[in-house]
Formats: sequence, structure tokens, C-alpha cells
Amino acid sequence: MFHAPYPTALHGISSEDALDAVKGLFKSDVDPKRVAAIILEPVQGEGGFYAAPAEFMRGLRALCDEHGILLIADEVQTGFGRTGKLFAMEHYDVVPDLITMAKSLAGGMPLSAVNGRAEVMDAPAPGGLGGTYAGNPLAVASALAVLEVMAEENLVARGARLGDKLKAQLGELRSAVPQIGEVRGLGAMVAVEFTQPGTSKPDAEYAKKVQQHALKNGLLLLTCGSYGNVIRFLFPLTIPDTVMDEALGILSAAVRLA
Ligand SMILES: Cc1ncc(COP(=O)(O)O)c(C=O)c1O
Repeated sequence: MFHAPYPTALHGISSEDALDAVKGLFKSDVDPKRVAAIILEPVQGEGGFYAAPAEFMRGLRALCDEHGILLIADEVQTGFGRTGKLFAMEHYDVVPDLITMAKSLAGGMPLSAVNGRAEVMDAPAPGGLGGTYAGNPLAVASALAVLEVMAEENLVARGARLGDKLKAQLGELRSAVPQIGEVRGLGAMVAVEFTQPGTSKPDAEYAKKVQQHALKNGLLLLTCGSYGNVIRFLFPLTIPDTVMDEALGILSAAVRLA
């Protein structure tokens, strides 16, 4: 397996840089004819909640088409309404060959799935793919219930609305908190990145202080990113309005360390 950098404008990596890095791997490390697939998250989860720019996604698709490589979108974290669409790839004019999904798929029951082009999905012979717990009836029933509730309660749109509210609140804090380097997000997948004021240098210390402040007041926050300086939000799409508002209040004080 080979890794290439993800485009992160804040840290000076453009889509062109990231595509050049893949092309560089093909020149010096691996013959593209030997590459079965390129897999990426449309919005990086653990990596820092960076969304892939459209031109990067298009560039990867073009590289895959040129060399007969499959493009796999890992939607384990982004799928099922997390980004304001049912799947994050719907934000792009690019179609992946395969999509991986899990997490929200079954609302907490252990289930994962792969979907994609029929030609790829039908490639394994019957019995060629399996596992002890494959198709677990309870988990599958849970996934069916999730799909029903998502449609009934319009959770994709609700997630986008709550994400916008959160993003707007974090944006408003920028003038008071110079450590806020960037507020970003796609739908409900929102993050705030802390940097040393006036620079793009990561400030993990500040992120930790915010996290501790929030924890003292009853709000659990998760960090992410290579530098641990990003706080990300993964609230349940079913969160009651009153609980969300309470969380936003605690968050606002925590980000200001007030
Ligand atoms: C984007 C992404 N892909 C894959 C995984 C691994 O998923 P699983 O635990 O279902 O193997 C995770 C887990 O956190 C994830 O966030």
C-alpha cells in the first residue's frame, strides 16, 4: 500500500500538489498497471475533516480511468447523511467504482457494506466473499430501520441544517478567538482547526484546552488531524434541539476558554 498527501489548502497542499504526488508514486514507486485501486475519503475523518476539492476528485478519476484503476470512496464516516447528502460523493460530478459504508449504516449495530458498479460487485464467484457475521439478521434489520427513520424524519436535511448552525456559531467566534485558524465542514461534518494566531501553525495545546473546558461542563469533544489541533463534531442526526442548543452553549464558552 502507498500513501499520498491529501489536499489541505490551510497547510499549503493544493489539489495539483496532491495529484502530482500520486503521479510521482507511479513514476518512482509502483507501476500504475499494478495498482488495483485508489481509495480515499471524500471528507477525511480521523485525518482532520478536510473535504476533497472537486478538481482533486476529478483528477483522481482521470488518473484511474487512464490506468484502469478502481476509484473507491470510503464513506464509512461520511455516509448516511453526515455531509448533507446521503453519500458525500453526491457532492461531486465524479462516480466512484466502489463505496464502503459502515457506522451510521445500522445506527450503532455492527454492520458494514460495499456497493458499486455491477461489473465489480459481480466479479467474486458465489461464496467468494464471506465472513462469520456477514448478513447478520439483527444488524440488517437495524439498517433497514435506519433507512426508514432517515426518510421519515428527513434526517439528511436536518443534519445539514444543524451543521450550518454549528458552523455559523463557530464562525462568529473567530473575531474573539484568534486561535481559530479555520472553520470548515460539509453538512453535519463540521470541524474547527486551531492555529497559532496569524499563522497556519497547528496549536494542539489550545485544542486540548478547549476539549478539557468542554468536558468539565459535560460536553465530550473529539479531536482529529495529523497534528491533533482539530476539533470535529459528529453529533447524532437525531439529537433533540434542546440538547444541541445546550451543547452549542457549552461549546461557545469552551472555544473562548471563558
Ligand atoms: C473513514 C473510515 N474508514 C474505515 C474505518 C474502519 O471501519 P471498520 O471499523 O468498520 O472497519 C473507519 C473507522 O473509524 C473510518 O472512520
